[in-house]
Amino acid sequence: MDIDWEALRAIANEANTHAYAPYSKFPVGAAAIVDDGRIISGANVENASYGLTLCAECALVSSLHMTGGGRLVAFTCVDGRGNILMPCGRCRQLLYEHSAPGMLLETVSGVKTIDEVIPDAFGPRQLAEYEKNGATP
Ligand code: THU
Repeated sequence: MDIDWEALRAIANEANTHAYAPYSKFPVGAAAIVDDGRIISGANVENASYGLTLCAECALVSSLHMTGGGRLVAFTCVDGRGNILMPCGRCRQLLYEHSAPGMLLETVSGVKTIDEVIPDAFGPRQLAEYEKNGATP
């Protein structure tokens, strides 16, 4: 699949303008392509109780389900200056859950697969393997 990363980043940058980040003053925008061709996006939403902050990826995953579900095939994320931002550890797991196998991410060190950014992950495909092998506890 040929991905227009620049176009996807432009959507992430637009999403960034909707961020609610009064505490960190660090707006984040994320955008992704879904396996049916849909394009979705999200921005971070902070909270006065800082730990309740929702990363941009949370909003993106919410949008994924609110607009018809499916699996993510390509993802990018930007900071307020338009620079590529690496998803935090928690969000890599979040993205993994909703990824198509081989999902691509634009990262600070080039385009990578989801398996490269969260190696030996635990997710729905691993659980399905357990079930297939009759090894579910
Ligand atoms: N943030 C994201 O939205 N996604 C990430 O993957 C990294 C961090 C947000 C959370 C917080 O609102 C701000 O960036 C500063 O940490």
